[in-house]
Amino acid sequence: MTARIFLNGEWLAATDARVSVMDRGFLFGDGVYEVIPVYSRQPFRLEQHLARLQQSLDGIQLANPHRRDEWIGFVTQLAKEAEWEDQSIYIQVTRGPMAVRNHAFPKEVRPTSVILAEPMTTPPQSQREQGIAAVSAADIRWLRCDLKATSLLANCLLRQMAVAAGCVETVLFRDGFLTEGSASSIFVIKDGVLLAPIQNHLMLPGITYDVVLELAAQHGLPHQVRDITEAETRAADELWMCSSTKEVLPIVSLDGKKVGAGGTAGPFFAAMYGWYQEFKATVMRGR
Ligand code: PDD
Repeated sequence: MTARIFLNGEWLAATDARVSVMDRGFLFGDGVYEVIPVYSRQPFRLEQHLARLQQSLDGIQLANPHRRDEWIGFVTQLAKEAEWEDQSIYIQVTRGPMAVRNHAFPKEVRPTSVILAEPMTTPPQSQREQGIAAVSAADIRWLRCDLKATSLLANCLLRQMAVAAGCVETVLFRDGFLTEGSASSIFVIKDGVLLAPIQNHLMLPGITYDVVLELAAQHGLPHQVRDITEAETRAADELWMCSSTKEVLPIVSLDGKKVGAGGTAGPFFAAMYGWYQEFKATVMRGR
């Protein structure tokens, strides 16, 4: 089929899906989004992604333009019809167009909602086996990083620092503590314990982060959710990044220094990666 895009309740060919230049999403980044992985045409953790979408909408005081069951219907339909078996489905809701450029919300809000599918490109095997390199930077973002807002300029600038250094991700520290990556959640392994930063206003409540912690609990891997210092992060035995599109990846160098003793993907990562794949397969079979 030709790529179809859901725009404000209509399914359109990609070339026909158009949004006004006066849209607040375009002019102010006034919107929120979700990225939902789809495996074998089955959306993974859809309920959780839609719940986080609602939280983000509540956080920016924007009424949800669709009911939960409508979102489920749209996403499921697209997952069934898109041309790829494995996809990443992108949802965006903005505060819609305004008559004149004005920071204050319009009196009558007509939100713009978009859903589109892209082929899922999970990281190459080499990255899972050999790990990836990361740089670090001061977390220069705002104080509502818990909202999955489309205003991602700081994240883009931070991510580009990694690209410029030939690396995959930028690990962020704020006031001496680990927050997350530019587009991922970060975990530390130290002395056999999985350490996860506390989900607060300084980081996104990651859906993959939750899966990783659930799997740790299920498989008896000791874990603590607590503040993690920059020094602890740099002294990690293993460092992982995770997100809906990257799943879980080992970070084997940070700012050019080896992570852990070997600077290779560690045994805890190998275990977690296996549990993650097993869990995905079980969930997909069970549907
Ligand atoms: N980003 N933190 C940030 C800042 C992110 O942008 C993301 C994901 C995550 C991981 O969240 P999840 O596990 O729910 O995907 C954490 C998506 C993939 C993106 O912006 O494309």
